[in-house]
Amino acid sequence: MAGETIEWEQRFHTACAIAREAGVLARRRFLDRSSFSVSFKGKQDFLTEVDGETERLIASRLAESFPGDGFLGEEGGGVAGAPGAPLWVVDPIDGTSNFARGVPHFCVSIACILERGMQVGVIYNPMLDELYCARRGAGAWLNGVAMRVAETTDLGVSAVEIGWNARYGQHKYVELVGRVVATGAAMARTGSGALGLAYVASGRRDAYLETHINSWDCLAGNLLIAEAGGFVSNFLAGDGLTKGGPLFACAPGIKDALLRAAAIDGLVL
Ligand code: IPD
Ligand code: CA
Ligand code: CA
Repeated sequence: MAGETIEWEQRFHTACAIAREAGVLARRRFLDRSSFSVSFKGKQDFLTEVDGETERLIASRLAESFPGDGFLGEEGGGVAGAPGAPLWVVDPIDGTSNFARGVPHFCVSIACILERGMQVGVIYNPMLDELYCARRGAGAWLNGVAMRVAETTDLGVSAVEIGWNARYGQHKYVELVGRVVATGAAMARTGSGALGLAYVASGRRDAYLETHINSWDCLAGNLLIAEAGGFVSNFLAGDGLTKGGPLFACAPGIKDALLRAAAIDGLVL
């Protein structure tokens, strides 16, 4: 038991160090825009050489430290671990559209899960040198300071981010925005789901919603919010890990009213 705890401590600290190292690489490449080219995986789905390069760095560092663990990355896909082993779920650059177009709002996101339970979540924003990290049952921190979600109880003074992507029907997005804005909430969309979730954990925003998001975008952020006292829908209940799904995460004081107003299909609470 004690051995297991030490291993999780090691995973937590290692993930923080790797997120920083990967973020420093991404930052250096971002600041030298002539050093990479931009392509598209689909409409509005940006890809740069830096995404793959950063993921390979993270994957190799994790494999050196925890050779039996599994790995699932946005760019390179999955490598199975030993039976019953933890699984790392990684987005090397979340906010790639921002990265590609010169907007300094992107991050590295690293989560580690065991079966359907989130254990470690780390998000690093290299442009602001902000490291968000959480360990299941132990808390969540921003640059070493404990985080708590906001105490907002009135949607009329709340700030809600609604993530957008081109994967599903645009009418669903517009209708969701309409329902949320009708409550009086201020609405944002900043192009990084992981940072959107980290902002909820740190109390900078009150909620993050998306009709479909992938596991590498949200698992680290979901643990940050849960450990900072917020509410997160049960993303891993169905096949969210491999196929993605809807997400609803918020400060507890607005949960009931926002859940009713947002009425997102397919959520498992
Ligand atoms: C996307 C961003 C975006 C979110 C999308 C993600 P990428 O990830 O997090 O904010 O709305 O669902 O796919 O392409 O920047 O890694
Ligand atoms: Ca992403
Ligand atoms: Ca990405």
